[in-house]
Amino acid sequence: MNIMETTNYAAIVLAAGKGTRMRSARPKVLHTLLGEPMLYYALAALRPLFCNSIWIVAGHEASRLEAAFPEDRFIIQSPQLGTGHAAGVALENSEIASREYLLIINGDAPLITTQLIRDFLLRAKNCDLAFATVSLDDPGEYGRVIRKDGEPVAIVEARDFNSGEHPFFDGEVNAGLYFIRTGAARSLLRLLGNDNKSGEYYLTDIVSLAFEKGLKVAAVRCGKDEALLGVNTPAELARAEDILAQREAARLLENGVVLHAPALVRCGPRVEVESGVEITGPCELAGASKIAAGAIIESSCVIRNSEIGADSRIFPFSHLEGAVVGAACHVGPFARLRPGAVMEKDSHAGNFVELKKTVLGEGAKANHLSYLGDAVIGSHSNIGAGTITCNYDGSEKHATSIGESAFIGSNTALVAPVEVGDGALVGAGSVITENVPAGELAIARARQVNKPKK
Ligand code: UD1
Ligand code: MG
Repeated sequence: MNIMETTNYAAIVLAAGKGTRMRSARPKVLHTLLGEPMLYYALAALRPLFCNSIWIVAGHEASRLEAAFPEDRFIIQSPQLGTGHAAGVALENSEIASREYLLIINGDAPLITTQLIRDFLLRAKNCDLAFATVSLDDPGEYGRVIRKDGEPVAIVEARDFNSGEHPFFDGEVNAGLYFIRTGAARSLLRLLGNDNKSGEYYLTDIVSLAFEKGLKVAAVRCGKDEALLGVNTPAELARAEDILAQREAARLLENGVVLHAPALVRCGPRVEVESGVEITGPCELAGASKIAAGAIIESSCVIRNSEIGADSRIFPFSHLEGAVVGAACHVGPFARLRPGAVMEKDSHAGNFVELKKTVLGEGAKANHLSYLGDAVIGSHSNIGAGTITCNYDGSEKHATSIGESAFIGSNTALVAPVEVGDGALVGAGSVITENVPAGELAIARARQVNKPKK
């Protein structure tokens, strides 16, 4: 039976809270782990099971969440009166209310996996209410699971917990993953109160309410599984990010990627790396990056939303963002490729070379100390050390075009808009303000004068 493929489910991700314990102006679920917002992870785990039956409850800075996840569906909780209130607001949505079952998950659980949710649902399916639990040596701020004769009778939040009242509490805590029959949710959520130390409507109180009503409740033990850890503080964020980085490194190794210093390779979940790639840590690969077979990424590189072609080599300390590097290229050391940088095959961008919205043609080389912006450079051209495209006149950007097999001498300023034709030669130290016709030599600098010394 594949319960997940039915249309009977709605998945609700609670993400409306401020995240006060992060002590940051940024909404908690938009803090990033390996370059992706925290909320990305719960959604990614849910998607294979729930497709487009997923709703996010947002409230604090909701518009920022909506902007970060433009394809997703949102429910607005305003004001934010607690997790139980958030679930109640979601149930006011008629499409959600029409589903037979609800899966509710906290948005601050970035380690959750599809497999864990699937296993949980299979164990939860005949219940009115089920929730996942983990056993911790230190239950910290998690809600405590109270059992009586082995059966769950309540979750008591950390702030309201009195160990004297629960001498048999053994460290089993609520992980923030719930399955509820919608009919049961409808009747239980309405009974929630906020008479507790936080003054909030706790979703967790539905456990004792369900028990009192004689409903079938299960606390699904998931052992010590770290996949269920919540993130509330910067320290927990750092720990979760480390765990994710290890997982991603393991994924790469399994896929035949060679990692030197794997503990220092931080690779985001959307990055695609082909087998036969070699990566040396420390480095950061993030976003929708793609690295083709045979590429070598040396240490201390940052690569975001970029493509690296087969057999290309990225030397240390290079920074690539929104760049496309073709096959067999050399980048760096200390190169910076900004959005719109395109390197065609066999091209080189060497040390202290910055490319922005620039195409470096096949076999072209800019090996030292250059800024090339808003430019198209033809194949097999050579850009001398210190060449600068002066693309900005103080108010607008202008383009530079250099033909094929041109040679730009060192320390040249190309004042855009300007064109240098195929095979042209520009003398070192020139300030080029006029187009240079194909095949001609341009020299634009003061002539040297030698005089006898006094
Ligand atoms: C919650 C649980 C706790 C559990 C822990 C697991 C409650 C009352 N407690 O505590 O039992 O052990 O998660 O990680 O549920 N949110 C809203 N609207 C609100 C308040 C919160 O959508 O009005 C969202 C938050 O954005 C967050 C999630 O609900 O993503 C959980 O809230 P949080 O404040 O992190 O609860 P915890 O204290 O971690
Ligand atoms: Mg939390």
